[in-house]
Amino acid sequence: MVQVEPFEVEQWMDRYETTPGVINIAETCCASVSLDGLVRMCEDKEAPGPLSLSNKLTYGAILGSETLRQRIAALHDRASDVEPLPSENVLVTQGAIGANFLTLYTLVGPGDHVICVYPTYQQLYAVPKSLGAEVSLWKLKAERGYVPDVSELGGLVKDNTQMIILNNPNNPTGSTIPKSVLSQIVASARERGIIILCDEVYSPLYHSLPEGQEAPPSVLAFGYSKTIATGSMSKSFSLAGIRIGWIASRDRAIIGAVAAARDYTTISVSQLDDQVASYALSEPVLRPLLARNLELARTNLGLLSAFVDKYARVCSWVKPTAGTTALVQFRNEDGVPMDDSSFALNVLNKTKVLSVPASTCFGLRTDFKGCVRIGYVCESEVLVKGLEELGRYIDEHLLRKIPN
Ligand SMILES: Cc1ncc(COP(=O)(O)O)c(C=O)c1O
Repeated sequence: MVQVEPFEVEQWMDRYETTPGVINIAETCCASVSLDGLVRMCEDKEAPGPLSLSNKLTYGAILGSETLRQRIAALHDRASDVEPLPSENVLVTQGAIGANFLTLYTLVGPGDHVICVYPTYQQLYAVPKSLGAEVSLWKLKAERGYVPDVSELGGLVKDNTQMIILNNPNNPTGSTIPKSVLSQIVASARERGIIILCDEVYSPLYHSLPEGQEAPPSVLAFGYSKTIATGSMSKSFSLAGIRIGWIASRDRAIIGAVAAARDYTTISVSQLDDQVASYALSEPVLRPLLARNLELARTNLGLLSAFVDKYARVCSWVKPTAGTTALVQFRNEDGVPMDDSSFALNVLNKTKVLSVPASTCFGLRTDFKGCVRIGYVCESEVLVKGLEELGRYIDEHLLRKIPN
């Protein structure tokens, strides 16, 4: 039997996100939108709506509609130095979770070695392990802004290294792998013929890069064929409910192999989901949707930043540059990190504010003590309320009372 370890962050969210009255600042999606909301956003008032009511609901295009695959392919051409990605190099899946699973299931097995950045979404290192591969974690450090240290890569690579797994922007730290670093990782993988899988589900939400730093392109933009990018409509495009994701690669042979494995798990995705995703990625909708989410991310990061400054006596962080999440460390006034699991549970019980404890949900038991993940690109009102309540909890439980 395949040994599958519990997927901690998903189980935590399943357990607590429906707590009555919950103030959810744990969610990783940019505030979700409705179909009505999408239509209102559309800049072309003459454009057909998201759904055709007369289309017969057959299985539809097996690998994803041509329109959707073209629009997904175009997302990978941003800031790219190489030729546009053809639609044939894209496969549509059920979410990025489906895309990652299928890619790993197809390309990794017993006898393989895989290097995966850490911390990241547990799926990216737990699935290769469950498939019998040996996994080395490439640890991201706060003092380097959670950017992978390329000088460590040579020491991690083995003769049987099959894949390097990246996540850009990163969940949970909200860090960015800059173009220069990405290019060095790609060069190193190319020298040894190692596949790179980059989970780009939070791209292109590079909302707060330091002045003068350009947003990195997709991993597919460097002209190395053995690169794979996964992504979805859930996070930067606010449409988790349609469960549309994708696998894109410069290498048609990789796409062919993954498509052959996909036949056993996905005949096709829902035709309704495909239509809605195609609509959301059409120019007149994509432009305002992304502009909304970039602005929401910047506004809300400002709110979170003010909170971290206000409570600097008991909390600190590496300020995110991208994505939707931040790791914030909480400690008592003597500088001792909280037990983040009890902290997150106590906060939830006393205030209804839901966050994600890093030690339980990301296995960060030693290096990230006291860290809690906050998903801050929710509706601003929710974040304001959540931070108010969290602040009240800190005032009552973490800060020493100064005698009058
Ligand atoms: C890094 C990363 N990859 C993949 C996923 C899965 O997202 P979805 O299946 O909704 O596209 C998530 C969800 O949190 C994630 O954080």
